Amino acid sequence: MTAEPELLVHPTPIDLTRAAADRIVAAASTAIGAGGRFVMALSGGSTPHALYTLLAGPTYRPRIDWTHVHLFFGDERCVPPEGAASNYHMARESMLAHVPIPAAQVHRMRGEDDPTAAAVAYEGELRTLFDTPAGPPATRPGARFDLVLLGMGDNGHTASIFPRSTAVREGTRWVVADQVDAVPASRVTLTPPIINAAAEVLFLVAGADKASMLKRVLEGPSEPDLLPAQSIVPRDGRLAWLVDAAAAAALARSPRA
Ligand code: 6PG
Repeated sequence: MTAEPELLVHPTPIDLTRAAADRIVAAASTAIGAGGRFVMALSGGSTPHALYTLLAGPTYRPRIDWTHVHLFFGDERCVPPEGAASNYHMARESMLAHVPIPAAQVHRMRGEDDPTAAAVAYEGELRTLFDTPAGPPATRPGARFDLVLLGMGDNGHTASIFPRSTAVREGTRWVVADQVDAVPASRVTLTPPIINAAAEVLFLVAGADKASMLKRVLEGPSEPDLLPAQSIVPRDGRLAWLVDAAAAAALARSPRA
């Protein structure tokens, strides 16, 4: 059963980042307590950099049992892992290099490989971890992401699921390669089916430049092909939008967190 999406508006980006870190700590504690591991997909772009830095810092790092964490990526740009445009590079510099997560539990999308081959390999890695060799993703504990962290672009994309794209229309594959209207154009991305199987999806959106698109996505008509963030509707999980006041400025309803 899909609960109503939560919308939590925080006064500043710092408050937003702390709130997201608290939710991740709580989700990790719940998942590890219930099933012995926490499987999370990281988002890319610039917004989560402060969050990753906070999670790797002295306040939050001790609050997560990193030895029981598996980290995946929601999407990757098809560039080498040491490239400045790489989502893995950003996560590594801000967090992965500073927390005691076993290297084998950081599951990188291989942006340096042929995109289609990288997508197929990544789906295989997910299917093995989730014990689902074929067919649609399950929503039983241990067979899905415990948490997927997402951002939203000012054109309504999320992960590398862009308007009118192969990814936004994908109903079967869990990971696809796509050419998108952004730089770099070649991407590998999780698709709505696997994201929507997650136990919890957290959108993190900040900044006045996102305000008009956030209003369209949350309060406008349903048009997920044009607004891929609307394609994220967990089948049996929690959906929360954590936004700052600047991004929420155009919303008719903006409950203060
Ligand atoms: C990426 C991200 C993408 C991002 C949005 C928002 O690879 O760029 O996964 O979906 O979350 O574009 O990006 P900003 O946080 O930089 O605004």
